[in-house]
Amino acid sequence: MILKKKSLKGLKEYVPAQPVEEIIKEFRIKAKDIIKLGSNESVYGPSLKVKKAIIDNLDQINVYPVIPAELLRAISSYVKVPTKNIVVDAGIEGMLDTLGKVFIDKNDECIIPIPTFEIYEFTTRIYGGIPRFIRRDENFDIPINKLLALLNKKTKLIFLCNPNNPTGNVMPREEIESILKSTNAFVIIDEAYIEFGGNAIVPLFKKYQNLIILRTLFKAFGLAAHRVDYGIMPENLVKDFNKARLPFSINSLGVKAAMAALKDQTYLKKVVSKIKEGREYLQKNIKFKTYPSQTNFILVNVSPFSSKKVTSYLVKHGIIVRDCAFFRGMGKNFVRITVGKPEQNRKVVKRINKLYAKTYHSLLRY
Ligand SMILES: Cc1ncc(COP(=O)(O)O)c(C=O)c1O
Repeated sequence: MILKKKSLKGLKEYVPAQPVEEIIKEFRIKAKDIIKLGSNESVYGPSLKVKKAIIDNLDQINVYPVIPAELLRAISSYVKVPTKNIVVDAGIEGMLDTLGKVFIDKNDECIIPIPTFEIYEFTTRIYGGIPRFIRRDENFDIPINKLLALLNKKTKLIFLCNPNNPTGNVMPREEIESILKSTNAFVIIDEAYIEFGGNAIVPLFKKYQNLIILRTLFKAFGLAAHRVDYGIMPENLVKDFNKARLPFSINSLGVKAAMAALKDQTYLKKVVSKIKEGREYLQKNIKFKTYPSQTNFILVNVSPFSSKKVTSYLVKHGIIVRDCAFFRGMGKNFVRITVGKPEQNRKVVKRINKLYAKTYHSLLRY
């Protein structure tokens, strides 16, 4: 008998968006006609300077990666935080895993407002912790008093995704502060989408000894495949984090790409401004109910249709979006659409509005 970890029980495998190759085969769609808006990747990709940095360093891939002081300095000047408070790891996912190792003992409690990024629950469970869920209200705001009421001696971590995935909304800074002040537990703020909107919590980081901020270069900088992201935390925690982190978790081309990306602020500004324009376009033109978003995606309530029907209808037409039924507490009527390039957004609007225009009766056939 194989004796596996008990914590594996009840864990679901992560289901990514359907791969493009499968869609090409299944629906006989040409690769060039597929619009991939299901994973919040940057549709603009990295800048030319980043691509050049990767190519120039291709012959380094035989060497194990290190975190160079130069990368820490580049992050430090971008976030205005001293290098001694910065960690680097393989994505926010990698940092969550490392933090799970640092903090979570069996039966520790972790508070997770849902619906949200699923990896918080995964991290909690895999290390034997107990997720304590708080359901967001109808506007996806967190009922802060209910959250505060859950705090107790067993609380180890509180996961706050700000802006939140998959809902796109932000949490007021006063509420974040009220949590930070009410507990010794660590509050992890995932700011994966912060370049697109919302108030960064970084200016508060010196004020609280229980604040951890996680950032990614994947969304706005277009480096999803490169797995080099950073976190900000108190100096004494940086030491523990680096003890628990896998020594070669990052990759050396990712390091070069990250440094070039952080230096190219002009490109970042351009991308963010295009995404904001696209976001507004989608919000104005999609006829289903959409929600305010400070991210590079929008949430759409496709009622009375199910998200499953809508996502499979769109994919048949080459448009990949996220069925939010996958997110705990999200229900069966929401889809998440990454903001695309203008021509992609126009196609999405046209197609989804066609669906809207159909009668309820005819739609039941899909
Ligand atoms: C809120 C949030 N955090 C983290 C991630 C993953 O980030 P990374 O690629 O840095 O692991 C995602 C990816 O979609 C996300 O939505």
